[in-house]
Amino acid sequence: MSDSLIPDLTPRPEAPANGGDRSVYVETYGCQMNSYDSQVILDRLRAAGFRTVDDHLAADLVLLNTCSVRELAEHKVISRVGEIRHQRREAGVEPAVMGVVGCMAERMGKQLLKGRNRVDLVVGVDHYDDLASLVNDVMGPAHARSAMSVGHDQSVHYVAPPALYPTNNSHLVTIHKGCDYRCTYCIVPYTRGPQVEKHPDLILTEIQAILDAGGHEVTLLGQNVTAYRWQGGELDFAGLLRLVSPLPGLERIRFLTGHPHDMRPHLIDTIADLPNVCPWLHVPAQSGSDEILKRMKRRYRRDDYLAMVAHARRVMPDVSFNGDFIVGFPGETEADFEQTLELVREVRYDTIFAFKYSERPGAPAAELDDDVSTDDKKRRLAALLAVQEEIWAEVAAEVVGTEVMAVVEEPARRPAGHWRLRTANNRKIVVDLPDGAPGQQHRLTITGWQNTSFFGEVTRS
Ligand code: 5AD
Ligand code: SF4
Repeated sequence: MSDSLIPDLTPRPEAPANGGDRSVYVETYGCQMNSYDSQVILDRLRAAGFRTVDDHLAADLVLLNTCSVRELAEHKVISRVGEIRHQRREAGVEPAVMGVVGCMAERMGKQLLKGRNRVDLVVGVDHYDDLASLVNDVMGPAHARSAMSVGHDQSVHYVAPPALYPTNNSHLVTIHKGCDYRCTYCIVPYTRGPQVEKHPDLILTEIQAILDAGGHEVTLLGQNVTAYRWQGGELDFAGLLRLVSPLPGLERIRFLTGHPHDMRPHLIDTIADLPNVCPWLHVPAQSGSDEILKRMKRRYRRDDYLAMVAHARRVMPDVSFNGDFIVGFPGETEADFEQTLELVREVRYDTIFAFKYSERPGAPAAELDDDVSTDDKKRRLAALLAVQEEIWAEVAAEVVGTEVMAVVEEPARRPAGHWRLRTANNRKIVVDLPDGAPGQQHRLTITGWQNTSFFGEVTRS
């Protein structure tokens, strides 16, 4: 790889208060890709002399890093723009320069520069390196009324300096951007563009910088990580895991989000084989009905999904699953929905994220009649969550009394003196640890559970 591809990962200090007299506040919505990108944005703006603040009232520049996956998420951002303006007026603070960045910038573009809740800046997912100069257009002497930069640029890959991360444990590392799968409900292939891989050397460099900065754990990140294919398949996701896994000091590797279509036996066996790849699979099923899966263009059938789960359980007895579901996709009948409930009962997920179908202009399913009523969508969502709650109560009760290894992450919100630990299969455990410190490993006996957390005590041997 040429040297020019390797970014400068030296931690960038905060601009001194008297040097950088401009301040920025960023609010992040949506997925982990946005969390990662917000770190990139802050890094670029710090380099341009901005201080970061955690209250919009104290900021000269307010950026909302946004998500377009559902209509409601977009509405919230539009009204948040109005709310921030209102709060500043009430507090007697000068209006801020306001910007929408991320997926909404890509999907809505110019529309965001118009109307009652208009913003001054619109910057898409491949343009954060231009952010400082776009900000100068509106904040500097030129006083442009607005600035916008959107559209996809395949050559852009970001690296967020590891020192910017707030805490110890999982550091996000994007391994590619965009998505080529085009599931019919999904706007991501249009907002984030085609799938473009990050160079494996750049991924290794980034992880090494995290380890050098004292990190021990990474989460490999992408819209569709299991589809990673460097140079047309010379290196696939299993190969990337094998490349990354031996890095000295890298204790845990997780990844988000996997696609059931790519979770072939070869990949599952690789995950099982590498001791520091965690047995935790986030594999959205979206539906349990073959008819709906076909119309969603998900590339697998219900039986393929269940076979994938069975194989993973065979080779990784501790594996736990996370799933996403959409209820009320166009044409979903009660019988289709029942199949989703059955699938959830069969898989026994630790957690699921479930959503009412939201029509997204620009996504292929927007051509279909959104014919499931709002009431039916609401009812199905509640029924799905109720089944999950029932199943989780059974799964969690089975975990009580067992022994597990877990790593200390951060102080628990309560009770005082307790810490939050995490197992390799991503279960959270609250433990009384008088001498707790992030990174410690403990053998625990699970004593109880509440919601999605367990309670435990250090096992006395
Ligand atoms: N409507 C509802 N949910 C959606 N998701 C993606 N697109 C839509 C949509 N149009 C959900 C999927 C995906 C998660 C990130 O968001 O379940 O896995
Ligand atoms: Fe969207 Fe499907 Fe790509 Fe996931 S795999 S980002 S759901 S198109």
